[in-house]
Amino acid sequence: MSIWPRVLVTGADGQVGRALLKSFAESAEVIGCNRASLDLADADQIRDQVRKIAPDIIVNAGAYTAVDRAESERDLAFAINARAPGILAEEAQRASALLIHYSTDYVFNGSKRGPWVEDDATDPLSVYGASKLAGEEAIRSVGGRHLIFRTSWVYAPEGKNFVLTMLRLGRERDSLNVVDDQVGAPTTAAELARATQAISGGILEKKFGASPSWSGVYHMTCSGRVSWYEFARTIFKRAHKLLEDEVPKVNPIATSDYPTPAKRPLNSVLSNDKLQRTFNVCLAPWKSALDEVLVAIAAHPKL
Ligand SMILES: NC(=O)c1ccc[n+]([C@@H]2O[C@H](COP(=O)([O-])OP(=O)(O)OC[C@H]3O[C@@H](n4cnc5c(N)ncnc54)[C@H](OP(=O)(O)O)[C@@H]3O)[C@@H](O)[C@H]2O)c1
Repeated sequence: MSIWPRVLVTGADGQVGRALLKSFAESAEVIGCNRASLDLADADQIRDQVRKIAPDIIVNAGAYTAVDRAESERDLAFAINARAPGILAEEAQRASALLIHYSTDYVFNGSKRGPWVEDDATDPLSVYGASKLAGEEAIRSVGGRHLIFRTSWVYAPEGKNFVLTMLRLGRERDSLNVVDDQVGAPTTAAELARATQAISGGILEKKFGASPSWSGVYHMTCSGRVSWYEFARTIFKRAHKLLEDEVPKVNPIATSDYPTPAKRPLNSVLSNDKLQRTFNVCLAPWKSALDEVLVAIAAHPKL
């Protein structure tokens, strides 16, 4: 394995994909593939591209992430979120590469009182959650060197996400209703990418042992917990200071008052203990991570 590894990032135009390109730029040869250059719905193209690029590390940041649309596009969601990770795992094993993949809090049903741990029983409520769980299982059944990072409520200064939606709605309306009975840990793409780069670097340097004892699933989120309603209020308060945005009135509502095609877990909070124990990595608290994103948005107000 070279010290300067070759890293293939799929879904390179997505929130996490873009952040990964930045995080790996200083320590690796990074090859970013978007949907046009590596379509995860095309099994042959996945194999061809991976063989051509011959990476030391594959980071699969591409996914079908339209949670509500997945309810009516089950086959496509499963092709991208379940079949593709299995093929990437086979190709990674064939090339003796490390596969890093992202999964979701939506593999759980949300009924637990405390934070979810990796071994808790899965029970996805949505097609998206079921497709992501099938992706985890496909990787596990291949059994090569892999890391599956389950994360939650991901956002970045660009892309489709809750923070940018709130900022836009806040400019358009005087008041908005936001769900107050779903709790989770908002997590920035930058924090995920930095942690991913640090852990993969440690693995290449054999800091965590040469054998793949570390292969498996880990929860990886910013620390803390908050409801969507509290998150929205915090976004507006901080954005008022940084972006001088108006602060709209935010009204707490119940999930039952905001019906969506896909059901979401009420408790999405994931325990990060295993990640910290194994790799000594801890993501930032969600509030400071939010500030970093708002500062980036303030620097590029067109976003
Ligand atoms: N976003 C969240 O709140 C969240 C929460 C938990 C876990 N995750 C997981 O975190 C990972 C990264 O998510 P993200 O937030 O970065 O999502 P994102 O911003 O939606 O990015 C996903 C990327 O995948 C690409 N993609 C979709 N279909 C593809 C295909 N057939 N072939 C190749 N690329 C394709 C998308 O391209 P297009 O732009 O062309 O569609 C997009 O660039 C995913 O595994 C996701 O399941 C996300």
